[in-house]
Amino acid sequence: MTWKNAMRRITLVAVTAAAVLGATAGQTLAAPPPSDVQPQVVGGVRAAQGEFPWMVRLSMGCGGAMYTERLVLTAAHCVGRTGRDTSITATMGVVDLQDPNRTTVRSDYVYRSPGYPNGDDWALVRLSRAVDVPTLAVANTTAYDNGMFTVAGWGAAVEGGGQQRYLRKAQVPFISDSQCREAYGQLIPAEEICAGNWDDGGVDTCQGDSGGPMFRRDNAGEWVQVGIVSWGYGCARPENPGVYAQTSYFAPAIAAAAADLT
Ligand code: ARG
Repeated sequence: MTWKNAMRRITLVAVTAAAVLGATAGQTLAAPPPSDVQPQVVGGVRAAQGEFPWMVRLSMGCGGAMYTERLVLTAAHCVGRTGRDTSITATMGVVDLQDPNRTTVRSDYVYRSPGYPNGDDWALVRLSRAVDVPTLAVANTTAYDNGMFTVAGWGAAVEGGGQQRYLRKAQVPFISDSQCREAYGQLIPAEEICAGNWDDGGVDTCQGDSGGPMFRRDNAGEWVQVGIVSWGYGCARPENPGVYAQTSYFAPAIAAAAADLT
């Protein structure tokens, strides 16, 4: 499994480089797709305006979800160290990143999980002002760590592909820790949750989706976040599922950090 470990490192480095480029190339988004059926996220379709109103695009080339009116939950590998940080622009309220009705807000502080990079791939970005968009509840029980999940993002539509102008969504089935371990030796079972099509691949998050939420309906029919896009070997490859920070595990730490930031 060491070669996969190495590949993971390479992937993360590549993403960091892409993220840095994204800060300047953030506006060079792909032209609108010729039809609505092109696969994106990987293997998904376009999301409707307002369908996932808490989705956030971060200017370093990551996704996120509104946790409170001033805090965006994202991945630790998307941000720098904890402290004052006005470098990030968050875009929300739209599926089209060039929509004139979009809301853009600057960050003023970043809290990166102190456990990162030993797992703990979550962070909170504090915005310089509150925004009036809905928030996405984070699962604080493992009850929803199963079944079919939805993922969404503006990341690559195919492995190695460019970032997207329009938000895409896809459905990914839960993959057990034991099966995920067959793919990745370094999985942290209690803190990471895997999803994808084991046999065939074809649907997954990909570079640029990092930090965005993986979510499903709870027993009351409300969306609840079960994961944060973290890593994978390539994108949508068979037997190489996507790996997500497991929010049911981190919910208390996220809530404590959020309380401190408010
Ligand atoms: N680390 C990637 C990013 O920064 C996300 C990779 C997700 N990969 C996957 N196969 N699900 O955007």
